[in-house]
Formats: sequence, structure tokens, C-alpha cells
Amino acid sequence: MTPRPVLSVDFGTTKTYFSKCPAEDPSPVSVDFGDGRDGLLTAILYRDGKDPLIGQTALDEFGEATTGERAGLRLVTNFKPEIALSGEARTAATDYLAAVLAEAGRQRLDVDPSVRQVLFGVPSEADDGYRAALKRVAEAAGYGTPEFVDEPKGALLYHLKQREISVDQALGGVLVVDFGGGTCDFALLEGGRVTHSWGDMLLGGRLFDDLFHQWLLDQNPGLEEDLKARGASYFVGTYLCREAKEFFSRSQARDRTTAVSKVFPRYGRFTDLTWEEFVERGTHYSPSRLIRQAFGAGAGNTLSDGERDLFLWFRKSLTEGLRSKGIANERITIVILSGGSSLWPFVPDILKEELPHLEDQAILRSDRPYAVISMGISVLPALKRKFARVRDALREELPVFIDEEIRPLLESRCALVEDRIVAWSRATIFQQGVGPVLERFRAKGGSLSSLRKELKKQVTLREADLRKTIGDALPLLLSGLRGEARELLAEWFSAHGIALPKRDFPLSADPAQRSDTILSTRAIGVEGMFDALQTVLGGLLTAVTAVLSGGAGTALIASGPVGFVLGGVLGASIAYLLARYGKEKARTFVEDLNLPPAVAGLLIDEGRIAALQEELSTNLRAHLEERLAPTRSQLEGHIQNLVLDEMNALNEINSF
Ligand SMILES: Nc1ncnc2c1ncn2[C@@H]1O[C@H](COP(=O)(O)OP(=O)(O)OP(=O)(O)O)[C@@H](O)[C@H]1O
Ligand SMILES: [Mg+2]
Repeated sequence: MTPRPVLSVDFGTTKTYFSKCPAEDPSPVSVDFGDGRDGLLTAILYRDGKDPLIGQTALDEFGEATTGERAGLRLVTNFKPEIALSGEARTAATDYLAAVLAEAGRQRLDVDPSVRQVLFGVPSEADDGYRAALKRVAEAAGYGTPEFVDEPKGALLYHLKQREISVDQALGGVLVVDFGGGTCDFALLEGGRVTHSWGDMLLGGRLFDDLFHQWLLDQNPGLEEDLKARGASYFVGTYLCREAKEFFSRSQARDRTTAVSKVFPRYGRFTDLTWEEFVERGTHYSPSRLIRQAFGAGAGNTLSDGERDLFLWFRKSLTEGLRSKGIANERITIVILSGGSSLWPFVPDILKEELPHLEDQAILRSDRPYAVISMGISVLPALKRKFARVRDALREELPVFIDEEIRPLLESRCALVEDRIVAWSRATIFQQGVGPVLERFRAKGGSLSSLRKELKKQVTLREADLRKTIGDALPLLLSGLRGEARELLAEWFSAHGIALPKRDFPLSADPAQRSDTILSTRAIGVEGMFDALQTVLGGLLTAVTAVLSGGAGTALIASGPVGFVLGGVLGASIAYLLARYGKEKARTFVEDLNLPPAVAGLLIDEGRIAALQEELSTNLRAHLEERLAPTRSQLEGHIQNLVLDEMNALNEINSF
């Protein structure tokens, strides 16, 4: 069966939100019923002899009707929580949802449920009775047989689709706070499933509407009686005061030091509302008679008339829930604020205070937090299909990504650091240490053994500097590598429309053991040079021996120009040594011979110095390569794991 596009419904106490999403493309839109706002007020106005009105229009019509007109009107609100318990509420809900479809038809909005997969959100605490009732209501209202999605999951899916949460984060501990008009619900999702939920059926935006209503009456003496006489108390209390509250909240979210005023023609005015006074009133709030009546209509939802601290109430709903469910703070890695009342600036403040381990970015709220649940629910089927496609693509592209992106990055980054260290060593070790010693030897002569000693001294002296240079360069290299590898990964993931997992991968290089020296006379090729020099001198000895024993004179010439010259200079002393100590022993004296400058210059010529420099470079590179070897395999391993985990996570989301 070809997948159908989706219509989703977040059926709320105060407002109901509708969203649509194409079958394959996770780009949901919230349905706007003509007032430029998301959703419709969950209210129905029955009228004698006429079709019922729904949404804001119902409230307006009722609010503006005269007392006489009201006799033929019946406004029904807050029916959603009661559908499992009351036939009357079920009827209102059915009529309301049917009227929404009729209204959409009149406005030529395409929401036809018969060609769509219909998904309804359900509160995570909803029991089977509620689900059964909602199914009956939806079917009777013309929505076909709906499927259900937990409301908090909708909020999670929305931010996942927005790439504000990565797939692996979505599977971690996500606390969804849904602070709406009528209730405040909390849910902990783990592995994408609701593992705990709790809430407060009384704490919602309408208490703040009531606070503003009382504030209005306090600022406008005589208004209460006036409104009563005109039958406008309900309209002003529920509608105008809600508007004023939202206006105040928005302005305080921008700047809590400004005072807010608002005039309602015919219904009084708000003058200089400040954040301080709001906090004062919220701390000592007592529900008005009007709101207690409204609550009284609900089964068991009765609001006592004592004083309540609204901020503490919210805080305690959170903390006592966490405590009673045994949820340690650390289990929560992301918080999603949804519901219109989460726009109050005190909401993220309290969450930050109570969950201090979370960074600011871990607390998410969209700019339309009331609409995220319906949008997120509608995106579920398309998102699953997309994730299945992405998973397959990642599997296929991983080897290419490693080969063509990660390896070249490793090569070039490591080569850069090696070059830098080698250049530093040539400059420092040669120009300042070994070079001058060799030059002095060339200029002044001396014995090979003293040259060796001096070189050794220089090399030992420079060892610490080299260690420090490498020690400083490697961490920089590692963090650079990590950063660039993450960037490449992020680009790759983003090309597939998913966010990179936040988790970092540690990289390390093989630490140089304190005992093994990096810089030795062997490492810079000095030992090799001495070996070579000894061969030359050894050859010379053989030649001299040949001359002395009356052999062919050409043997001297055969040992080459160095040997030839040396022969001239040293012939006598070597002959003496040979005569005195014999051939084998004389060889060990060679190193102690005090060579004159001319000979020293010939032995250590420019070519030899250059060869030493090359030797140093080659050996240093080999040393660095060896130390970086674990880094290379670590990085590739991390990337493999990260991508495999991501593929598993994408799979898991498919079972949402
Ligand atoms: N900027 C704002 N600041 C504070 N509250 C706001 C703001 N914008 C909207 N609200 C409030 O959010 C509430 C509506 O939120 P939402 O639409 O999420 O509730 P709902 O889903 O209908 O209710 P519930 O989830 O309780 O059934 C109203 O009380 C509204 O006044
Ligand atoms: Mg809601």
C-alpha cells in the first residue's frame, strides 16, 4: 500500500492543534484556520436552530451576546479530560471535532481524513478507557480509525526533525514538560518510550489568566460589578485577560525591567504591570470564585480556595515527580519545553535551577511550543521512512567516507605536524647545537672520541627541548584532528538531514616513555657517521700495513682521496702505532688520534653534515609516526563506531 500523507491532532483541554505532513517528506505544517494562529480553542457553542460554532469564534459570540441572547446559547469547554467519564463530554468532543472538519471544508482547507493516515496524540497517562473513548469520538466525528501517539513523543520528534536533537540524544533521557492551558504534564522518555510520567491536572495557563483578571479588577475599581451587569465577566476573564497575560509574558521574556500597560476599550485597562508585582501576585495567588467554578465542572478537579504559590507549585510538580519516580537528575540529558505556558520566562529558569547539571543548550523550546506536539506527531511516519533511507546510505558510504575524507585528513594533518617538528629540530638542534660542534671540529681538529663526547653532550642538552616541542604539538594536533573529523562527519550527516551525535571521541598519541630517549647520537646519525669514519681509517690502516710489509703501494691510493691525504699526514704515527701495538689494538687508538684541522675538515665535510640532518629528519619522522599510529586507528575506530551506533539508533527510531 502506498503510504498516505498524515493528519495529526493534538486534542487539548484549551486548544486543539492540527498538522499535516507528506508521506515521504518530514516537513509538517500546522493547520491555520484563518486567524493566523496555530490551533483552535477547544470550545463549542451550541446555538438554537443553527450550526454550532467552534474555537475563538464560539467564545467571541458568547462573550458579545446579550443576556437575552445567551438563553439560546450553550458554551461547552474543558470537555477533553472527561471523555472517558461523561457521555456529555463525549458528545461535545465529537461535535467539536466534526465541526472542525466542516469548518475546514468551508475554508477549503485540505485536511480530508479519508485520504490520510490519522494520528491522535494521547497524554502519556491516558488509560485504556481514555483511548477507547477517543477512538469512538474520532470515528464518530469522521476521522476514521485513528492511531495513537504519546503526546510527549510528538515534542521529541519535532525537535529531532529540526535537528536540534541528534538521533542518539533522542534515545537518551529526555524530559518533556508540557505546560499548557489546563494542565502541566511531565514525561521522561528513554529509548524514545515514556518510562515515567506525572502531572498536575490543575496547574495550567488558565490560573495565570485568573491572576491577570484579578489584577485587572484591582486596578479598575468598580469594573467587576460593571462586567457582571453586562454579562461580560467570563469573556473578559478568559479571553481578554489571557491576551493581556501573553502580551505581558512576551514583553517580559524580552526585558524584565519594563512596565507593561494595555487598554481594553469598554473593559478597563492595565497600567504599569511590572515583573516584581507579577511575582508577588503569583507567589500569593488565590483562585477566584470564577475559576473555581470552572474547575468544579471537572470530575475530581477541584481547586481549593487557599493561597497558592504558583511558581513553587510548578517547581514542586517537577521535583516531587522526579523524587517519587526515583529519577536521578543525571538520567535527564535533554529537556523539551512544550505547551504555551512554557513561554513564561520563569519556566526555563526553574528547570535550570533544579537540573543544574544541564547546559543551557540542553533545554529546548521552540518559538511555538504549543504547536510542536501536533507537528511532531504528524512527522512520525515520514521521519521513520527517511531514517531508514539514511541508515542504508550511511552503511553504503562509510568505507568511502573513511577512505576519501578521514584518511587524507589524517595524512595531511600528521604530515604538517611532522614537518613542523622536523623543521624545528633542524633549526634548533643543528644550527644551535650539533652544527657549531661539527664546525669547530672542522676548523680546529681534534679526536673523534672528543667529538663524539661533545656531540653527545649537545644531544642530551636538546633532548628536553625536543620532548617539550613534541609534547606541545601533539595535543594540538589531536584536538585539531578531532575538530576537523567532527566537521567532516557533521557535513556528511547534514547532507542526509540528520544531526551529528554530540558525544566526543577521545584521541591520544602513544606517550613517549620517560626512560626512552628520543634524541640519541644514534638517532641523529652520529653513530653511523663514526662507523663510516672508522671504516675509512680502518682501510687506511690496512693500506699502511701493506706498505710497511712491502706490498703494493697502490693499496694506499685504493682507499680513496681521504685515505690518501690521511695517509700523508698520519702515515708516520700510524706506522708507529702499528709497530708498537699491532694491527688490532691500533684500531682502537684511531678514535683518540688528534686529527689536524685539514683532516677533520675532510672527514666531516658538507655532505656528511647534510646526511646527518637527513638522518635526523628520517628518524624523527619514524618516531612520530610510531607515536601517532594508535591515534590513526583510534580515529578510524571511533568513526566506525559512531556511524554504526547511529545506524542502530536510526533503526530504533523506526520502532517508535
Ligand atoms: N507567551 C506566552 N506566555 C505565557 N503563556 C502563554 C504564552 N502564549 C500562550 N500561552 C498560554 O499557553 C496556554 C495554551 O497552551 P497550549 O495550547 O499548549 O495548551 P493546551 O494544549 O490547549 O492545554 P492542555 O495541554 O493543558 O490541555 C494558554 O494558557 C495560553 O495563554
Ligand atoms: Mg496540550
